[in-house]
Amino acid sequence: MQASQSPPPDHLRDLREDDMPQAFKDLVSSLPSEEDWVINTLRLYQGFWFPSRLLNGIFNCQNHFQAHPSDILLVTNPKSGTTWLTAILFALLNRAKYSNSNSQRRHPLLTQNSHDLVLHLEHKLYLQQENPDLSALASPRLFVTHLPYSSLPQSVSDSKCKLVYLVRNPKDTFISMWHFFNKMRPEENGQIPIQECLDKFCRGVSPYGPYWDHVLGYQKASLEKPEQVLFVTYEQMKLDPHVHVRRLADFVGCPFSEEELGDGAVEGILRMCSFDNLSSLEVNKSGKLSNGLENKLFFRRGEVGDWVNYMSAEMGERIDGVMDEKLHGSGLKL
Ligand code: A3P
Repeated sequence: MQASQSPPPDHLRDLREDDMPQAFKDLVSSLPSEEDWVINTLRLYQGFWFPSRLLNGIFNCQNHFQAHPSDILLVTNPKSGTTWLTAILFALLNRAKYSNSNSQRRHPLLTQNSHDLVLHLEHKLYLQQENPDLSALASPRLFVTHLPYSSLPQSVSDSKCKLVYLVRNPKDTFISMWHFFNKMRPEENGQIPIQECLDKFCRGVSPYGPYWDHVLGYQKASLEKPEQVLFVTYEQMKLDPHVHVRRLADFVGCPFSEEELGDGAVEGILRMCSFDNLSSLEVNKSGKLSNGLENKLFFRRGEVGDWVNYMSAEMGERIDGVMDEKLHGSGLKL
């Protein structure tokens, strides 16, 4: 893979290491590295492959984020349905404000992408500032992160705040990631061959990978601390969204009342956050996130099993084989 000659856009730019303190530069350059799927570098830190350009945000977050007991963190592997669940959790937690039909029309999800409404710890908050002031955020605070369980800031487990972990079938996650990163690559670099990505994915080299270790960390935590960690799959959400939205609401401490259930509050949230609705909104067709990424990149097909359209049976079996081996004994079948 050739590096691009022209400077990459902001959202792809590696850390400007010249601007960083020497100790940080020394630490980053001492970490094992691999080319990522776009044009940047992944660094192996605490057993996971992190995009190099995010390491500063990760260190800041680990050093400074103070979780509150009432916080809710949505955690995912990239391309597991973060955009969808972020929207659902935002709508769930803010439903009292937008419950009548007038305020439904002014719902923030109609004019803003959910990634701008729910702040990403290491992609946004702690990447832009070493220790951002979060005191103005109303409780319960909702954040999103892709950090593995073992890399979360210490205050998260100390505070006993709630973690919702969303996992998706690895073959669909892989294909979603492959599409996403192809679109992020500068045109002159062309598509990254799927076989090259598959090799990396199966070696564990993907953003925030190894995929299986990410999943296993949260699965173990959800078994040990079910009151703190909820483990949800994208496929379950697709199959029975009504049941799972109610389960989410119970878990985050804002269950639906009988009256709300009778008034169709769950259906309203699901309609608002459906793929068809969100992807058809002007903001998600032509808007951009503050880091310059186009919102439309977060909406592709939103289906279960789409991998069959891009991978041969052998390629699928290769991922299955790796997962069988790595998840063996965990009771997990994805
Ligand atoms: P596909 O590429 O398979 O279509 P993330 O939000 O973690 O980046 O994940 C993106 C994936 O979630 C994409 O999957 C995208 O289409 C899908 N997605 C986005 N919004 C969705 C929604 N409202 N319902 C279901 N899936 C959604």
